[in-house]
Amino acid sequence: MSQQFQHLPDSYQISHITVRPNIVLAPMAGVTDSVFRRLLLSLGGLGMVTTEMTNAASVTPKAMQRHRLLDYLPEERPIAMQLSGNEPDLVAHAARQVEALGADIIDINCGCPSPKVTGGGHGSALLKDLPKLGRMLRAVREAVSIPITLKFRAGWDDDSLNYVDTARVAEDAGVSAIALHPRTKVQGYAGSADWTRIAQAKQAVSIPVIGSGDVKSAEDALQRLAETGVDGIMIGRGAMANPWIFRQISQLRAGETIFEPQPADKQWLLLRYLDMLLETMPEHQAMGKLKQLIGQFYVGLPGAATLRRDVQHAKATIEQRVIIERYFDPFISGRLAATAEAEQPEVMEDALVES
Ligand SMILES: Cc1cc2nc3c(=O)[nH]c(=O)nc-3n(C[C@H](O)[C@H](O)[C@H](O)COP(=O)(O)O)c2cc1C
Repeated sequence: MSQQFQHLPDSYQISHITVRPNIVLAPMAGVTDSVFRRLLLSLGGLGMVTTEMTNAASVTPKAMQRHRLLDYLPEERPIAMQLSGNEPDLVAHAARQVEALGADIIDINCGCPSPKVTGGGHGSALLKDLPKLGRMLRAVREAVSIPITLKFRAGWDDDSLNYVDTARVAEDAGVSAIALHPRTKVQGYAGSADWTRIAQAKQAVSIPVIGSGDVKSAEDALQRLAETGVDGIMIGRGAMANPWIFRQISQLRAGETIFEPQPADKQWLLLRYLDMLLETMPEHQAMGKLKQLIGQFYVGLPGAATLRRDVQHAKATIEQRVIIERYFDPFISGRLAATAEAEQPEVMEDALVES
């Protein structure tokens, strides 16, 4: 199997920036904060990270102090900071601030389907007005010297699929790379991601094209890369289920033995995440973030549903810690057999609202 993957490209360029490996973490509002990004980077195989989407209107010192969405550490480089907006001048102004913060890349959100976002003409609402999108991208490009990328959906609905046009508008405006999640705004997260659309976008432009949607395993990622000829792969929910997916992709590509996380690794990951969260945010926020991760994290052991429920009902992080320790310990010591069990991740209702 690995033979067939060894010839695949393992990097792409965003202007002068080399993204290697060409497998990157998808931006996820409420999830991919600096802690999550650093945790995943520490596991290996991850080529680049992006901040959560930030409204261009809230890129002010006061607002940033409150939302902290653009906080990052140097070890996260290269880092893209994602902005949403509708007014070319305002987004260009925000882009200058983001450049001053030290972003390597500015990513513009043209995919978020949340009514809160599209209501203001941001996110996927821009798919309805490509001339305006083009003006906005040009304004940003003229305002900064760092490269710009665009992340977008396939269209507003099935009757207005315009991903090829959107890709061309981006290229014409001087965007350095694009990432396509091939669902429509109306589709939300229903159905499946149609990667033939990503392959078509790749054919239409000469800038790098990154595909996003439903990549859940190392095989998925490399098969998508091979089948569609895209330059890179972006993984979101699959990285919450399996944070080691990036390392596994590197190993599969190299023909090495694939790391399979054991109960001790899973316990370590959850507790490490909790420790890192507590270093940077108040207890109640850290507790919420762990609840969110455990809803998607693939435990793969008997009784996982109980673990999830108990962590989610906990009233303090110390309680969450004890629950995690007590759950995994018998599997780690061998007192209980670590037989794999199928599980369904929770539907990310919040995600549908947030992103
Ligand atoms: C919880 C959540 C939050 C998201 N937030 C963002 C965001 O802030 N900006 C963005 O461009 N896409 C966002 N997305 C979309 C993802 O980046 C990605 O394109 C989509 O989830 C499909 O990939 P996946 O199947 O690998 O998750 C979000 C998705 C989820 C699930």
